[in-house]
Amino acid sequence: MSLKDSIDLNNLPKHIAIIMDGNGRWAKSQGKNRLFGHTNGVTAVRETAEGCAELGVKYLTLYAFSTENWNRPILEVTGLMDLLLKTIKIEVKTLQKNNIRLKAIGDIDALPGNTARELRQAKEETAGNTRMDLILALNYSGKAEIMKSVKQIAEDVKQGKINVADINEEMMTSHLYTAGIPDPELMVRTSGEQRISNFLLWQLAYAEFYFTEKFWPDFDREELYNAILTYQNRERRFGKTTEQIKGEAK
Ligand code: IPE
Ligand code: IPE
Ligand code: MG
Repeated sequence: MSLKDSIDLNNLPKHIAIIMDGNGRWAKSQGKNRLFGHTNGVTAVRETAEGCAELGVKYLTLYAFSTENWNRPILEVTGLMDLLLKTIKIEVKTLQKNNIRLKAIGDIDALPGNTARELRQAKEETAGNTRMDLILALNYSGKAEIMKSVKQIAEDVKQGKINVADINEEMMTSHLYTAGIPDPELMVRTSGEQRISNFLLWQLAYAEFYFTEKFWPDFDREELYNAILTYQNRERRFGKTTEQIKGEAK
């Protein structure tokens, strides 16, 4: 039986979030520059998006550029922005073919003008697609996202629209970039690093984490299946006991 056949389609994560890490080390290991790694990471993005859509995953969030990534060498930053621009332009056809809707989270307005424009256009073109949402985290910071929500709620309190006592989790969630999107059940990080790097701090509260040593350009469908199978073998307890989860106790 292949890995894919072992997956229980009734217990799929609805939303998978991935920290695509290790492009630079992948390139370095072959004596190439870091941008070569980023360029080759695009194949893994395509494989993963198609693999998720085929299985029936409804949301796939990919961490593509953090607010901290602006601190990289200028040539890498401009190279990444160019790659993003080109990739969105080219891949829009594949998204249409696969009935995938493109979304973005992060401070999109602060991206270079042409990148932001291309992204907006691709979002509009794919807005009617229904099979899966592909959400790119771009110029994204989990802390900034939470701050944004807090500020908007504070403003509503100040204007007398709501009382402090009305503030609840639902309200916080509705002001996040991810409003309307369910929290990820599974978070994957490649390249052996085991940290969250300011990704979806609020939304990952109860996600299962899966770490693989593979560098992002080497990530493929089989790796995706491995991650999902590992997730399916976890017991998600949400604070309860095993006995309660198994229905042996109340
Ligand atoms: C992830 O790969 C891609 C981005 C952060 C844009 P890295 O570029 O972080 O690769 P490593 O971690 O240096 O190997
Ligand atoms: C996190 O990867 C950001 C993205 C994958 C876009 P980094 O490689 O930038 O993370 P740190 O800085 O090593 O934690
Ligand atoms: Mg990295």
